Amino acid sequence: MAVRPVLKMGDPLLLQIASAVEQFDTPELHGLITDMLDTMKVHNGAGIAAPQIGVSQQVVIFGGFRSPRYPDSDDIPFTVLINPILTALNDTKEEGWEGCLSVPGMRGLVPRYTQLRYEGRDQFGQIIDRTVSGFHARVVQHEVDHLQGILYPMRIHDLRQFGFIEALFPGQSISDD
Ligand code: NI
Repeated sequence: MAVRPVLKMGDPLLLQIASAVEQFDTPELHGLITDMLDTMKVHNGAGIAAPQIGVSQQVVIFGGFRSPRYPDSDDIPFTVLINPILTALNDTKEEGWEGCLSVPGMRGLVPRYTQLRYEGRDQFGQIIDRTVSGFHARVVQHEVDHLQGILYPMRIHDLRQFGFIEALFPGQSISDD
């Protein structure tokens, strides 16, 4: 178990396309997921992607506990999603505020598909196939974007809706990271 340093926007590794995982249920994979979970929890993240701790593999985790940063986050079951494939179920998108452990102290308004199917595998190689909506769909899109080298500021349509938390939401105690 270890909290690992989180790479910040500007680090070239965050822009890489992550490699597919080929072997499941290995000590290396379980160790990676433990480190991701420890790191996500210490920063109160709703999710984290392996590249954020410097591992360019197609592994994301999300959900499973109530983050004070995202009050809806405990609606999402804890999920390990490997080699994901996302399919939007229609063209509808909605805007919502996002933050990222790799972009500390900031929030932006990001359009995301509202209904989504995601497929992939868990750490044991078991198939995951879910249809989700709302905040769950948003978190999956954010995390899976990390595997394509995409950070949420690249998705913002109106950069006036991007800024520092304390300036965007004065008087609200939203934690900084
Ligand atoms: Ni992120």
